[in-house]
Amino acid sequence: MTTVRVRQHVNPLSQKYQTPLAGLNWPHYYANLQQPLHLDIGCARGKFLLDLAQVHPEWNFLGIEIREPLVEQANLLRDRLGLTNLHYVFANANASLRSLCEPGSLAGVFIQFPDPWFKRRQHKRRLVQPELVADLAVCIRSGGFVFLQSDVLKMAQQMRDRFAKQPEFVDPAIGQWLETNPLNVPTEREIFTLEQGQPVYRSWLIRN
Ligand SMILES: C[S@@+](CC[C@H](N)C(=O)[O-])C[C@H]1O[C@@H](n2cnc3c(N)ncnc32)[C@H](O)[C@@H]1O
Repeated sequence: MTTVRVRQHVNPLSQKYQTPLAGLNWPHYYANLQQPLHLDIGCARGKFLLDLAQVHPEWNFLGIEIREPLVEQANLLRDRLGLTNLHYVFANANASLRSLCEPGSLAGVFIQFPDPWFKRRQHKRRLVQPELVADLAVCIRSGGFVFLQSDVLKMAQQMRDRFAKQPEFVDPAIGQWLETNPLNVPTEREIFTLEQGQPVYRSWLIRN
């Protein structure tokens, strides 16, 4: 497989990323549509889902990524492994969640190490906006979960606070960070962070 040069960041507010993705041909990608669907938002090269889809063949997975070349490569790798419970789409999650997912269709959502956009004037580019949280409150079924991770404390706090503020979500740990990753399948960014000896801030919220 050839290695594609990919921009490190794209601006999700740019006009070219505002068209919602709709009409995914679900039966074409998933062998068993009855399996619970899990979403990884900002999946980058998709390695985390590639691993998790093999650990949990009884779940379905959808990765959403705004940098298109990464999605093409991820789907090629998926095909090579012959996985029928995993697909990746090129989309801006902030523009596409409601068109992509039916109400109550999601069993779980992962948002891991989203770009921190440190400068104050760029905070509006951050993935976890109140509108995205409200969309997920509609799309995640009762009893479903959201797993959040970041290596940036303020980002982790902001993400967790935005979900905790939405009445449909509860934080069973009441503001405590999880010590370890309950999935036991790390993301690429998580591996890098831990190898540097840096902390990871994790929350697991439940959709009531
Ligand atoms: C720092 S990377 C983390 C990747 C991976 N989750 C991990 O933990 O290794 C954040 C990813 O989110 C993607 N992203 C940022 N905003 C997005 C959006 N609005 N919709 C979809 N993907 C987005 C970026 O392109 C990037 O690949």
